[in-house]
Amino acid sequence: MPVPAAVGYAAVGIIAGLVALIYQGPTSFVPGVCERLEPYLLSEVVGQELAVSQLSDAICDHVSKDNPHKPLVVSVHGPPGVGKSMSHLLAARALYNQDPSQQTQCPGQDCPGYKVLYGMDYISSEKEQQLALLRASLLEHCSQYPEALIVVEEYDKLDCSTRGFLRQLFENARAANVTLDRSVIILESNSGYLQLLEVLQAAGHRGKVRAEDAQRVLKDLVFDLWRSDDCEERSDTLKMLALVDFYLPFLPLERPHIERLFGMKLLERRKGLMDAKQAANLTWDEDVVHFLTDRVDFEGPYPIEGAKEVSTLMTRYISRTLRAWSAQQAARKQVALPGADREKKHGALTSRVLSTLKKIKGKRSQPAPKEDDLLPVIHLAVGKDALGNPKVVAQTQQRLEQCVGK
Ligand SMILES: *[C@@H]1O[C@H](CO)[C@@H](O)[C@H](O)[C@H]1NC(C)=O
Ligand SMILES: *[C@@H]1O[C@H](CO)[C@@H](O)[C@H](O)[C@H]1NC(C)=O
Repeated sequence: MPVPAAVGYAAVGIIAGLVALIYQGPTSFVPGVCERLEPYLLSEVVGQELAVSQLSDAICDHVSKDNPHKPLVVSVHGPPGVGKSMSHLLAARALYNQDPSQQTQCPGQDCPGYKVLYGMDYISSEKEQQLALLRASLLEHCSQYPEALIVVEEYDKLDCSTRGFLRQLFENARAANVTLDRSVIILESNSGYLQLLEVLQAAGHRGKVRAEDAQRVLKDLVFDLWRSDDCEERSDTLKMLALVDFYLPFLPLERPHIERLFGMKLLERRKGLMDAKQAANLTWDEDVVHFLTDRVDFEGPYPIEGAKEVSTLMTRYISRTLRAWSAQQAARKQVALPGADREKKHGALTSRVLSTLKKIKGKRSQPAPKEDDLLPVIHLAVGKDALGNPKVVAQTQQRLEQCVGK
């Protein structure tokens, strides 16, 4: 007997709903945040120990409370490219996942309570509509995820009505039938660069910057900014200021941080190469790190774009060299294998024969490993191009022992 279509659709709907439920990922913060958060942040964010340790402590204290009476609100400041966005992304991974990693889909299914509101400087004709949308989506998010991580980027550039809405929501979410008390709110802004520079220079060394000094300077800055906008009563500005629990300084980076970041990126490449089909280890002269760092734009001791140039320079100077190495290696293997020429003519059949040949070869070589079966080591060094300009070159060191023995 044919099943009525409606029943079929309903069944499909229910199954889809169940699947969605199962794959929705964690809807609230998972236990162990305090142990996980700081080491995880420090493993990737470089040079921001002051901000990172305060952020970790603040979040840890907040999630440990049984009955928090307000959301944790943190205002993070600093120039672009010094780790602000990286920090909240990592925090989100660690809040919603026992075992956070680069594979954690965040924002996305692994961090469903994580919401980032980007640059709100929309054109004025759409303002009201935009604000209505923002209001609706934020309220829905908060009712769905009582333990949310909400980030407002460029919040110093919010217009008066958006700021008013956020202030009321953070102050008294219950009026809108949602609660934010268990949530973490991060307000992010690029303002405060000059002020932080002064604090840093006055302290002489970033390790000597006091949390209270940075907090005072940043709080004053935010107060002045908001008062000059003349959006609201002075008392409301003060209320919003008081709502913020921490003002965190992300200080300008310095040369040693950029060097460390290049070192970390090279380690990542090593890992990628070892996992690749044509596995190889990767080593490098310290000169390579200096070569790369010399290509970053600095103003005095500070990289102008923070860490933003690091990826670009890795692509420009390292990726091509490594790709060329892999291609060369593949070509060498082709020549070395018997019947390589014929493979082109006989296609699939020959490739099956070849794979059998490889297996036999693998078995045979177990007792006495041949050169080919040792993990090759690619060594990066600074050499010269045809015009005598420095460039990164890759030298193959066939035997692992050569590297270890050095
Ligand atoms: C909040 O919930 C109450 C009771 O369910 C309802 O009467 C009220 O209209 C709701 N308020 C808003 C702003 O949705
Ligand atoms: C890769 O090279 C590094 C540096 O020489 C070494 O410490 C590491 O053990 C090597 N890894 C493997 C799997 O050979």
